[in-house]
Amino acid sequence: ISLRPFNTFGIDARARHYVRVTSSEQLRLALADPALAALPRLVLGGGSNLLLTGDFDGLVLHIASTGKEVLAGDTQHVHVRAAAGENWHEFVQWTLAQGLGGLENLALIPGTVGAAPIQNIGAYGLETQDVFHSLTAFDPATGSEVTLDRAACRFAYRDSLFKQEDGRHLIVTSVTFALPRAWQPNLRYAELAAAVAEQGIAAPTARQVADTVIAVRRRKLPDPREIGNAGSFFKNPVVSAAQCAQLLERWPALVHHRQADGSEKLAAGWLIDQCGWKGRSLGAAGVYEKQALVLVNRGGATGEDVQRLARAIQDDVEARYGVRLEPEPVFV
Ligand code: EPU
Repeated sequence: ISLRPFNTFGIDARARHYVRVTSSEQLRLALADPALAALPRLVLGGGSNLLLTGDFDGLVLHIASTGKEVLAGDTQHVHVRAAAGENWHEFVQWTLAQGLGGLENLALIPGTVGAAPIQNIGAYGLETQDVFHSLTAFDPATGSEVTLDRAACRFAYRDSLFKQEDGRHLIVTSVTFALPRAWQPNLRYAELAAAVAEQGIAAPTARQVADTVIAVRRRKLPDPREIGNAGSFFKNPVVSAAQCAQLLERWPALVHHRQADGSEKLAAGWLIDQCGWKGRSLGAAGVYEKQALVLVNRGGATGEDVQRLARAIQDDVEARYGVRLEPEPVFV
């Protein structure tokens, strides 16, 4: 089966086996089949954080479960739960329609609810971990479901337990978020605050923040339905304060953000842009014109094309700034 419809990069790789499950029960049944359970496995949600580097000689398990509900929560928070296969953006829109703020900064991120904690998706001053309550995951090793709280998920920047050796086998089946009853807009991200102020809005509603995030994203990020891509292709590198100071001596315009622990996060998009890569292509793979952090499929690109371009960028940035960029998507 061609995986082209199942990855936002639009890479035309093939999988030997494909099973789509729409409930936890179907997932359990599929993996109760010893022949299927023994195969190398790729768990797929929206396919928006994935680079297929070749054909996959194993089982693609497509998580397409649906369902969302508002739970009682506690005195401070309303809890909302969604099945892993729900589309992330539609889920965010649904919470807003219920009058529940808290997820609006993460509007329009491609992918599914189940993938959100794996990658600890984040944008415009908010990360999944900030609004996360708990999740359920199926453990194929035991055939049962586990519930994990925030600490157990070991969230970090674009990282979690589910990307580590001891958590990689877990399959997220549902996620519960804790949304504040006393909602306040989160305008910590300067570009978002500026875009809200530009509209003359003094005290925005959650709906208005969402609409602004959507407008900002549309300005600089390609719609995967039109141009194949997986969002930011590299993580923003974190360097020591000393290394950042050294870089600033040579490049005073370097974009950097101080982290809570004193380290500095650099803007990979700026580094790539400064190396002259913005808008350039290598074969059918290219660097997006409006945001250098996003690699795009200009039509018929293979995973190898994208990898070749990624390596050329990594080499250039490293030669100039001494920083090796790390890819964000999962390579399969
Ligand atoms: N910049 C450039 N040239 C570029 C791109 C960016 O000079 O081509 C500069 C910008 O001017 C700005 C800085 O780099 O000063 C940061 O740019 P931006 O605000 O666009 O954010 P980013 O650091 O490039 C990160 C996330 C995005 C997220 C935005 C907003 C990562 C790897 N990426 O991008 O996440 O939407 O912040 O919060 O952390 C994703 O993960 O797929 C993703 C899109």
